[in-house]
Amino acid sequence: MNNAFEIQKLCKNYKEFTLNNISFSLPMGHIMGFVGQNGAGKTTTIRLILNMINRDGGEIKIFGLDNVLDEQKIKQDIAVVFDDIYFVDSWKVRETERALKGFYSNWSSKLFNQYISDFHLPVHKKVKELSRGMKMKLMLAVAMSHEAKLLILDEPTSGLDPVARDELLEILGKYIADGQKSILFSTHITTDLERIADYITLIDDGNIFYSGTKDDLLESFRIVRGGPHDLTDSLKKKVIGLTTNIAGFAGLLPASEMKHLPPEIVMETPSIDEILVSISKGGSDHE
Ligand SMILES: Nc1ncnc2c1ncn2[C@@H]1O[C@H](COP(=O)(O)OP(=O)(O)O)[C@@H](O)[C@H]1O
Ligand SMILES: [Mg+2]
Repeated sequence: MNNAFEIQKLCKNYKEFTLNNISFSLPMGHIMGFVGQNGAGKTTTIRLILNMINRDGGEIKIFGLDNVLDEQKIKQDIAVVFDDIYFVDSWKVRETERALKGFYSNWSSKLFNQYISDFHLPVHKKVKELSRGMKMKLMLAVAMSHEAKLLILDEPTSGLDPVARDELLEILGKYIADGQKSILFSTHITTDLERIADYITLIDDGNIFYSGTKDDLLESFRIVRGGPHDLTDSLKKKVIGLTTNIAGFAGLLPASEMKHLPPEIVMETPSIDEILVSISKGGSDHE
């Protein structure tokens, strides 16, 4: 088994949203950034992985097991952090352990205490007295104290200041260092991913636009810019997220389309953010 999970042709239909036959997998021992605009379907996909909602089609395997049939077994090895704290406000930091450790057969108090100390969490404070960054660290301490093989984080950095975000990324990098653990990290703050993700899955309005290594993603596209006369009809059809003004045009082009471009056109390696913005604008035949 080389994948932490495998999603095949997953579908979910809401009244005004369809998760459309999505497939992707996360290789063991890696961090995958799950990137998309608000409303693209990230949380829906995560809820389906965790069997919190029913799917309308497709299949999900986690550690090679069916996520519905083998749910109880799988859950021992998964940990989740949502963007909002779900611990009781009046619990003290120390009490969160007592309340939660019973759910996991392989809970380690030693690890929990280690994380609490590493993260400088005030053990006698109540959950409601913690800052957002501290709450995130407490959720992570709980999530990591049973050595989950798959850590799923839904927008963990939204609302964190840059220092706390930086600390979080460092913690995650250490967590997967033994090669036995994997992390799915959903976010719309893509700068986090440039640093820590090995794999990127881009979701746009319920469709997977790309899933693969970060390096391949950045190699597969170029930002192109040119003057008004450089924008031929055929180029217009190929550019994703085209913007034009009097001075010229800009947009994203698959690297495979670069060959016959006139030399006046400037090409640059895109950031993940530029790719995300371009695909959400759409406007080409790509997909
Ligand atoms: N329970 C639900 N009933 C109807 N629509 C829903 C429900 N949950 C999510 N949606 C819709 O599905 C879309 C995707 O939502 P979500 O997965 O939360 O996106 P993301 O996490 O990427 O921001 C949104 O348009 C949202 O309104
Ligand atoms: Mg969400």
